[in-house]
Amino acid sequence: MNALKMPTYMNSPIAINDFLVHESVQDIITEILTGLSAAPKYISSRFFYDSTGSALFEEITGLPEYYLTRTERAILKEAAPRIVNSSLIKNIVELGSGDCSKISILLDAIPDRNFEETAYIPVDINKTSIIKSAEMVSKKYPGIRIHGVLADFIKHFKAIPDDENKLICFFGSTFGNLSRTQEIPFLLNLKLWMNPGDQLLIGFDMVKDIKILEKAYNDEQGKTAAFNKNMLNVVNRYVKTNFDPDQFDHYSFYNIADARIEMHLKALVNIEVTSPHINSKIFLKEGETIHSENSHKYDSGHIHRLAEISGLQIKEIYTDMNQWFSLVHFQL
Ligand code: TRP
Repeated sequence: MNALKMPTYMNSPIAINDFLVHESVQDIITEILTGLSAAPKYISSRFFYDSTGSALFEEITGLPEYYLTRTERAILKEAAPRIVNSSLIKNIVELGSGDCSKISILLDAIPDRNFEETAYIPVDINKTSIIKSAEMVSKKYPGIRIHGVLADFIKHFKAIPDDENKLICFFGSTFGNLSRTQEIPFLLNLKLWMNPGDQLLIGFDMVKDIKILEKAYNDEQGKTAAFNKNMLNVVNRYVKTNFDPDQFDHYSFYNIADARIEMHLKALVNIEVTSPHINSKIFLKEGETIHSENSHKYDSGHIHRLAEISGLQIKEIYTDMNQWFSLVHFQL
């Protein structure tokens, strides 16, 4: 199958395809208002990532409490030489690219590489993030081809070029943000998209001491709270609602039964929200919550079951000394 035609971005070797432009604003408004009229209320976590949200998230990844990023990075550093030597890799796809620090670890491990034969394909929902990581990677690895894809990789899977010799990276425990019912269909989609020899890396955050988990999502500086509340600014822009983020508390806890951190926004007072797109008001009672994110935690049994059901093969599981995080190398 063919890669998409690439526009060039400001005469640089960076091309960006925007698939979000095809999404109608009306669909987005309907999506948000559906969640706000449900019981309990929810807002899709994709509305976290405007430029402010993406910048806040980058700050979160550097926080002392947020062990995930640095743990995954250390695992990747150790594992990178084995991963890049496991097959011929020409196209490195990064789903939810964020900053380029992890991809650099992989690219650094490619020995004597002529980067002209390599393409980096960052896929993200935020254009600024793609441009930033694309620019950093193109500066650091001269000659590398870059094809950014602005898309929601859950919805626009087919938008991503499916060249051969791919290494698909899904870092950051973003897999854990899928709902339990999305896990297998997502893996099956990935599998359909893979060609023989393609490699897949997924980062899983593991079940551990609840105190450690809850601290990672309730940092002392309040960055996670700011990140969570910023979603209301994004909603205000789309739906022209009048949410005041200061009327909400960041509320996050570990749900043992479902093995996940849940993120909510809790109303501090009774709140009435208006929008020109609806006739009636949205009411929130004091203490009522809007569910904004789940971050599932895994154990080895669960990871093996996912592989078994999806029919993907586990080539290797890399982990840290404490087994806090696992980087799983899958292949067809
Ligand atoms: N993938 C990240 C995780 O599950 C997303 C995340 C981290 C997040 N911190 C957050 C999402 C705070 C919402 C709020 O860890």
